[in-house]
Amino acid sequence: MTSLRLKSDSPLNNEQFTFGVATSSYQIEGDRAARLETIWDKFCEGKGNIADGSNGDVACEHIKHWQQDVQMIAGLGVDAYRFSVAWGRILNRDGSINERGLKFYVSLLDKLKELGIKAYVTLYHWDLPQYLEDTGGWLNRDTAFAFANYVDVVSREFGNRVYSYATLNEPWCSAYLGYEAGIHAPGLKSKQFGKQAAHHLLLAHGLAMKVLAKNSPSSKNGIVLNFSPCYAASSSEQDVAAARLADEHFNQWYIRPLLEGRYPDAINDMSDINKPIIESRDMSVICQPIDYIGVNYYSRAIYQHCDEDGFKVKAPETMCLTDMGWEIYPEGLYKLLTDLNRRYQLPEVIITENGAAMKDELVAGVIDDQDRIAYLQTHLAAIEKAIGAGVDVSGYFAWSLMDNFEWAEGYKKRFGIVYVDYKSQKRTLKQSAKAYRGMLLGRLHK
Ligand code: NOJ
Repeated sequence: MTSLRLKSDSPLNNEQFTFGVATSSYQIEGDRAARLETIWDKFCEGKGNIADGSNGDVACEHIKHWQQDVQMIAGLGVDAYRFSVAWGRILNRDGSINERGLKFYVSLLDKLKELGIKAYVTLYHWDLPQYLEDTGGWLNRDTAFAFANYVDVVSREFGNRVYSYATLNEPWCSAYLGYEAGIHAPGLKSKQFGKQAAHHLLLAHGLAMKVLAKNSPSSKNGIVLNFSPCYAASSSEQDVAAARLADEHFNQWYIRPLLEGRYPDAINDMSDINKPIIESRDMSVICQPIDYIGVNYYSRAIYQHCDEDGFKVKAPETMCLTDMGWEIYPEGLYKLLTDLNRRYQLPEVIITENGAAMKDELVAGVIDDQDRIAYLQTHLAAIEKAIGAGVDVSGYFAWSLMDNFEWAEGYKKRFGIVYVDYKSQKRTLKQSAKAYRGMLLGRLHK
């Protein structure tokens, strides 16, 4: 069996380095009846929106099996568990608290504390209550303030149980995939919408950071962004410019306002109709001090020139693909981290997601996912190298703890290091989970 190994002098062997596993509410919880309807419930009803026609009504039934799941997490030897809280399981429509939902999260947090596992709580992982979408969702500025109010309730109720908060998970996905490309909930498709939704999400982050600074000053508070480093399809001037433009729109668009209080220069070239409406103090609200930046990395993207938008994505030519069709490219993670470090005054960096969907096969009770183990190993090596080059990376979370509802792909794509049989809800550790466990328990300080 291929194992995962950390060299004795690896910076990842340091006691300060945090290893964890990650999940999100809509993708694992189930128990649909006990919370508000979300934009994903509604989106899943649309014909053709989800590859297998499924939804998150049941998912991994985590709400039912959470105690067993937490024991499984503890058994992996991780330091931390990253999960998200469903807005509509904490607050009712009239703003009152959903006591049952709150109790679930508080019990989960208490159990994690008892087991010595740090709780990394994401406050928004895409499951916006549908009633807020009915008044415009992230296109409506008020949603940012509603989010801050929800964060105020959560952070007061959770008290000192939380080690770290992330305001948002991957706002690019919420804004671009949800409001511009239409392939995620709420499924809107307009060039005008994408950047406006992004602006309100970033505003929501800034407002929430202020709330967290007041209610939870001793937790590590930040945000989680996804990045796909942009490579040019050729060395032609046009393709190089295309990759630079794509990078500004998809990557820098989110990090630069957070750290420097301004959007990339590409905003000046946008037509007035597509430019977001920005009120006078918004940029300073967005640019709050953050304790860390969460980086989700899966792959790179290759761009070529196109007359219409200036750039268009080019499909990878390699055979090294995951089951999502994403290129396996660990060097991209090294390049991303070192580029960001060169460009910005970065706070601490945590790799909040990394992992791969692979074609897992359960054979005689075993999932021998050597491909996933190799993926993890090579990406951990890229992080070691980036630390060697001076980037302050202090944590790594494997996505995902277990197979779950992979959004528009439904249950067909499996990202877990633990296999889930959705009929019986049985969890089986894949070889990757065993390798991860072996690596974590083998650390020098353990
Ligand atoms: C990022 C998202 O945060 C997560 O929800 C998703 O499952 C993974 N990427 C894999 O696509």
